[in-house]
Amino acid sequence: MLNPSLSAGARQEQARWNERYQQSTSAPQPCRVLQENRHLLPRTGTALDLACGLGGNAYFLAAQGLETWAWDISDVAIDRVRQTAQQRGLLIHADIRDVAANPPAPVSFDVIVVSRFLDRGLTSALIEALKPNGRLYYQTFIKQAPEDVGPKEDQFRLDAQELLNMFRPLRILVYREEAQVGDLTSGWRNEALLVGQKEP
Ligand SMILES: C[S@@+](CC[C@H](N)C(=O)[O-])C[C@H]1O[C@@H](n2cnc3c(N)ncnc32)[C@H](O)[C@@H]1O
Repeated sequence: MLNPSLSAGARQEQARWNERYQQSTSAPQPCRVLQENRHLLPRTGTALDLACGLGGNAYFLAAQGLETWAWDISDVAIDRVRQTAQQRGLLIHADIRDVAANPPAPVSFDVIVVSRFLDRGLTSALIEALKPNGRLYYQTFIKQAPEDVGPKEDQFRLDAQELLNMFRPLRILVYREEAQVGDLTSGWRNEALLVGQKEP
């Protein structure tokens, strides 16, 4: 059901993603930046999977013992996250939310994960939403990707080093962006990833 509090533009975006998720049968997986850097998660606290889609990151965070929220504009995706969380016995607060209009509140999460979603207008809000020592995990597509994957529109793809520049106020713990340097037959090429920590 469409959420009447969404703007007309947000409702269009919701409809676009609902259609995709209605057709999707793929099992959601946690993103690479989270899987490879599980050791940098806090042992306890609150976590947010922002623009969660089918919730691959949220299940992972909840399974680590973090109290987890999952927000997405797609009600189809959120219904699916609720059902899956229940089947897996995980407690996840899954909500339909337009994060552009309603970003996370300041100092509200110990961990925020964003994968394959880019809204540059949210940069300051994400940094402010971290609690002291909180960690941001971010991973998304770059403009210089060698393969034709991810969104077509440049506005949804990162410039060279952009993630690093966006989150410079954080202490950068991990950064990876290979683009088209060296032997393109190996490596991890189409996205950039970052883990940053907010100073206390
Ligand atoms: C490419 S998917 C990524 C989903 C998930 N993070 C992943 O990595 O599989 C982008 C997601 O952003 C969501 N989205 C787009 N605009 C949004 C908004 N304004 N507020 C919340 N979610 C939004 C879409 O519904 C979609 O689930």
